[in-house]
Amino acid sequence: MKYDIRQLPYDQVTVAPSILAADFGTLDADVAKVAAAGADLLHLDVMDGHFVPNLTMGPPLVSSLRKASTFCFDAHLMVSHPLFYTPVFAKAGADHITFHVESDDDPAEVIAAIKAAGCTVGMTVKPKTPASALAPYIDDLDLILVMSVEPGFGGQSFMHDMMDKVAEFRRMIRDSKRNIHLQIDGGIDRNTVYEAVRAGANMMVAGTSVFRAPDGMAAAVQALHDASKELVI
Ligand code: DX5
Ligand code: ZN
Repeated sequence: MKYDIRQLPYDQVTVAPSILAADFGTLDADVAKVAAAGADLLHLDVMDGHFVPNLTMGPPLVSSLRKASTFCFDAHLMVSHPLFYTPVFAKAGADHITFHVESDDDPAEVIAAIKAAGCTVGMTVKPKTPASALAPYIDDLDLILVMSVEPGFGGQSFMHDMMDKVAEFRRMIRDSKRNIHLQIDGGIDRNTVYEAVRAGANMMVAGTSVFRAPDGMAAAVQALHDASKELVI
């Protein structure tokens, strides 16, 4: 494993820009800009047109980005068959892989495949799935992702009613006595970040608010980092 998500702080806000909101025509330059802006890792939204009604990026795009980037690559697999795609995206350059408990594959098998591929393991739940769905797997997880929009598209509005779920995961993480990142994804910006950190999320995925920030990416990333002071862990 080249870049390790476990090296990132658990007690501060870290920022994972989602390239879904970047300009794919100038992706290399956009990724370089967001690195210079102080982002901590890069979030890659992989959609298969089946698990969600959208198609985004395949392995060639990830391997091209890999050549030019020293970011930890955080792949969020919104796919029906994570068991099939795990080795494919690990080979392309993913360092960390998060998959959905609602996928068609057996979670225990997917976790084993992610570990076998040399990546760290994340699991996530769609908005309607309760936190308890991940309880059987918590001892194997390096990251838990709470979706604060329905997966499938960038630029949607933050679902405020997901904060109880964030708080519940934070309690589960505390009880586990393990280091597990609590990531949140969807509609995160310099305002909504405060709700997320007060509920216990420490890692912010942000697409639109970073790549399309009117005052520039550095200001947008800084504004998210600034929320560290209110983080409850
Ligand atoms: C949604 C994706 C998100 C999304 C975030 O399915 O998982 O990562 O791109 O985009 P914003 O920050 O624009 O809501
Ligand atoms: Zn995502």
